[in-house]
Amino acid sequence: MDGLPLHEIRNRHFDALSRDDGLLWLGQNTNHLPPHPAVVAALHEAVDRALFNAYAPPLGIERLRELILQDLGLDPSVFGVIVTDGAVAGLSHAVRSLLRAGDQLIAAEPGWKWPLVYAREIGATATELPVYDPAQGYRLSPAQLRAAVTPATRLVYLVDPNNPMGTIFTPREIVEFAAIVHQAGAYAIHDCTYRHFAEGHTLLAPLLPRHTVTTYSFSKWLGLAGLRVGAIVACHELIGRLAAAAPNALGSSVIAQHAAIAGLEHKAEWLPLVIAADRAAKRAIADAVASVPGLALPVSPSHGNFVALDVAGAGIRPEALVAAYRAKGVMIRQGSYHTAHFADRFVKVSTTVPAPWIARFCELLPAMVEDARGMNEIPPLF
Ligand SMILES: Cc1ncc(COP(=O)(O)O)c(C=O)c1O
Repeated sequence: MDGLPLHEIRNRHFDALSRDDGLLWLGQNTNHLPPHPAVVAALHEAVDRALFNAYAPPLGIERLRELILQDLGLDPSVFGVIVTDGAVAGLSHAVRSLLRAGDQLIAAEPGWKWPLVYAREIGATATELPVYDPAQGYRLSPAQLRAAVTPATRLVYLVDPNNPMGTIFTPREIVEFAAIVHQAGAYAIHDCTYRHFAEGHTLLAPLLPRHTVTTYSFSKWLGLAGLRVGAIVACHELIGRLAAAAPNALGSSVIAQHAAIAGLEHKAEWLPLVIAADRAAKRAIADAVASVPGLALPVSPSHGNFVALDVAGAGIRPEALVAAYRAKGVMIRQGSYHTAHFADRFVKVSTTVPAPWIARFCELLPAMVEDARGMNEIPPLF
């Protein structure tokens, strides 16, 4: 791959992963549990009826929009929905619509980098507030946010549950964030991609209805990452603004939306199975981690379908551990995907995967730590 630009190397990296049939996908918080039969049936039916010949409604299939609001428990007289190509496309659109050059976005570090990338791309600044600290529970504090607000602050990006830490905000913190964003005359993006895995999650939108964009993802709880379907939810006025120049003006995938509808219609019987697998995986990983000196789970239990695993005490580089596992056909993710400042601290491991995958990860752990210790040459990771 010598001589290729970075974006091509990056693509080949993921292409190689996706062509590896036996790969155990423990690196992207995706869901690899067997899908609900109703979701598979909806996909087949949409294909058999060639529903893909026509465009979907521009803001999404009405039934799906209605089900998303119901799932969030948000009042349809106040809030509307734009179905997007995954939550990330909605995030991109919201950031680019709400920010101008010179504005400031504030987010926690570690966090999810893409909205910061979009903000910087349009000439806004992105301020990251460090949260990798047990003293603050590995999450953004209202005091930290309040102190960081400037006259240029236009957008606060709250990832909750946080990827990668697995923390959630308390109801009181959400109330305080709403007040701070309101006083700043800013907007908030409440990225709720992992909400379904959390115990006791609080939405910001009811407290700051006119100035909050809430993201919704089907990639994690429903396992539709490769279908690219998600949504942004906001008050009708804001939806009107965002709808005016939406990148998916011709709608999002019809097939994916039918799968998402089936998923929401069967959520009550499906999600408990996913949660049970997720919790069992977290327990198994916690046991395995406890038996290897120097490893630790900063946040346990995590409220996402993943855990952050601190490796600093073991004296190894996160990238080395990722490379060691990759050599055994297991993908985990290095902390540098999420943060520059805490990149040497942790890796991330997904938990909504078949139990044998977790067993394999756990049984390999002591040997992988040893392999990582001796590793100097590591190919680029993304
Ligand atoms: C915090 C966060 N937001 C958004 C996304 C993207 O979700 P989607 O697959 O729905 O685009 C991810 C994916 O990992 C994420 O971690």
